[in-house]
Amino acid sequence: MEIIVQPTAEDANLIAARILAETVREKPHAVLGFATGATPLRLYEHLARLHREEGLSFRRVTAFNLDEFVGLDPSHPGSFHRYMEEHLLRHLDLPAERLHVPDGRAGNIPLYCRKYEEMIKSTGGIDIQVLGIGRNGHIGFNEPSSSLASRTRIKALTRQTRRGLAELFGGEDNVPAHVITMGLGTILDSRLALLLAFGSHKAEAVAAAAEGPVTASLPASVLQMHPRAVCVLDQEAAVALKHIDYYDWAYRNKPDWQRY
Ligand code: PGA
Repeated sequence: MEIIVQPTAEDANLIAARILAETVREKPHAVLGFATGATPLRLYEHLARLHREEGLSFRRVTAFNLDEFVGLDPSHPGSFHRYMEEHLLRHLDLPAERLHVPDGRAGNIPLYCRKYEEMIKSTGGIDIQVLGIGRNGHIGFNEPSSSLASRTRIKALTRQTRRGLAELFGGEDNVPAHVITMGLGTILDSRLALLLAFGSHKAEAVAAAAEGPVTASLPASVLQMHPRAVCVLDQEAAVALKHIDYYDWAYRNKPDWQRY
């Protein structure tokens, strides 16, 4: 895992935006995996700016989102369909029919999940998967105990996750109990996993994911098995890392041709 610690979240977001932009420039038909939540918001603003000011085009890109709530109408303010429409789709030239967000209203969920996996495969696989991390170490909605080999499936949310989403739904009791989420195995299949984390409330999960044992109890730790995982952090999210001096040194001494 490559760990890049930046002075501020803005510096970290600029690196993440460069990684995505470079991939889309080199491969206009790239397949991107998007995340939702607070973490990638600024990254998406940068992508919109690059589209507006530098003509970065997403016209041929295909995208897959990590997850969606079961039973929620796409127009619900808490739905990730709505989030993607507001924060990404309306600011880019990415064709709406090529942005795939799991359908939380699918009738036959196991069948739908298999189709979602097949759809990803049929595009050639995800080039870059953007990830946030939960305080409990979840990525996507792979809550603790998720199989490290899991594929897209239905998952029950933990109490802690539902509490964290309470505001979005006007109270914890209104947060859907279930989600459809890409699995950890699905995420491991991406060519590059780009994990972003900002703020001291993420420090413990980040340290456990990067430096702790690989365990289903801390699902993000599976990224230690990913052939190419890049973790971009601000200072606060990095405070609990034991080997931070080494990560800094390695990044500062990176050959120019490997820089983002
Ligand atoms: P956040 O959530 O980006 O809103 O902090 C991340 C997550 O729980 O995966």
